[in-house]
Amino acid sequence: MAQEKGKITFPADFLWGTATSSYQIEGGALSDGRGECIWTRFSHTPGKTKNGDTGDVACDHYQRYRQDVALMRDIGVQAYRYSISWPRILPQGTGALNEAGLDFYDRLTDELLHNDIQPYVTLYHWDLPQALEDQGGWANPAIVDWFAHYADVVSQRLGDRVTAWMTLNEPWCSAMLGYLLGIHAPGMRDPRRAYLAAHYLLRAHGAAVPLLRRNSPQSRLGIALNLIPQYPASDKPEDVRTARYFDGFFNRWYLDPVFKGVYPEDMLADGMISAALQGVDVSTIRQAAAPIDFLGINYYTHNTIAYDPENPQQPRQVRPAGARFTEMGWEINGQEMANTLLRVQREYAPKAMYITENGAAFADVAANGGMVEDPQRVDFLKEYLTATHAALRGGAALKGYFVWSLMDNFEWGEGYSKRFGLVYVDYPTQQRTLKRSAHFYREVIRASGF
Ligand code: FCB
Repeated sequence: MAQEKGKITFPADFLWGTATSSYQIEGGALSDGRGECIWTRFSHTPGKTKNGDTGDVACDHYQRYRQDVALMRDIGVQAYRYSISWPRILPQGTGALNEAGLDFYDRLTDELLHNDIQPYVTLYHWDLPQALEDQGGWANPAIVDWFAHYADVVSQRLGDRVTAWMTLNEPWCSAMLGYLLGIHAPGMRDPRRAYLAAHYLLRAHGAAVPLLRRNSPQSRLGIALNLIPQYPASDKPEDVRTARYFDGFFNRWYLDPVFKGVYPEDMLADGMISAALQGVDVSTIRQAAAPIDFLGINYYTHNTIAYDPENPQQPRQVRPAGARFTEMGWEINGQEMANTLLRVQREYAPKAMYITENGAAFADVAANGGMVEDPQRVDFLKEYLTATHAALRGGAALKGYFVWSLMDNFEWGEGYSKRFGLVYVDYPTQQRTLKRSAHFYREVIRASGF
């Protein structure tokens, strides 16, 4: 790993990818027997998403996947992280199989391999079959077996061709945005359900791992966690305590089970959490520590927070003077990502890590002449790739980097108002245009650096 002056060079086998997820790009809402998912229901409920946007059509990737793979090939992408829609495979979540759904992922996977792009598959990126939510969703203990069965079915079919599997994408979001804060599907505000959901998500991950191992012995297995470092706004003890608590809430509640098979003691002692988990045998979380080959980290931002005596459950976000933000209002600071990667290496010692998502939304506009200039995204990528390289040199076992996202898509509660893509999507015509950042990324991949 050389470092000439002004040039950053990654190891030759460092993997360069892009990421998407099924509900955000596929469209084909109920095509070919796909069942309803919680995001279909939620986005069709008035007031839940910006402008009432839904994923019914999205990027129409279900029909245009060949063109999208060709775009990746054009950019030179070596690996593609995509997710499988559970209700396309099992429209009711369990029971009858929908062959047409499996066929779609079969074709997509073959198309990738045909173009020398490695398939990195996420089994669950938030589109739970609504039929399972109707039975309690992630808060129902039966979901550990439901998910294991789904993982078994998919890996029996694709296991001979997938390079790497990720069981879950960001279980914190599924549990807390979905069942505690109510801003993601299924839109609940119920601490008990939220902590039950986190518990069964983590156990479902652990239950799926041995099945994936059996059906897909040559693949590498992991999980993608969103990590958000929490810094105290001052060294006042109450701010330090608050930052520690929220580090537990966002990060350790998932890292400790996956790597150590236990919940963090300080969090279990919290009144709200212990009430939420009353009657649950928390030692069963050891199931989450099934041995994996890599940790996927989705990294976007960090928080600086202060204790708020008026509202102790909701810390005050401090926006340091001079801080830079994306369109999501997420603070930009690559150095914090490097620190986080090194911390994870130190405290959890994963065998390997991938940055399975990193990227930024900006207000891109399509100009005439077929170019979309997105200088802020190019700067963002430079800053975070520099951080990735710094973490590598510092000893983090990093093996690859995936940009979120290949193309603009349905950004959950924000609908189509936030553009994260390397590729611009004009939704009315479904025309795709490479942004400047896609050209930049192509050069990064070609040169193993910049
Ligand atoms: C992550 C999600 C992904 C996308 C990005 C911006 O939390 O995994 O689907 O929405 O944020």
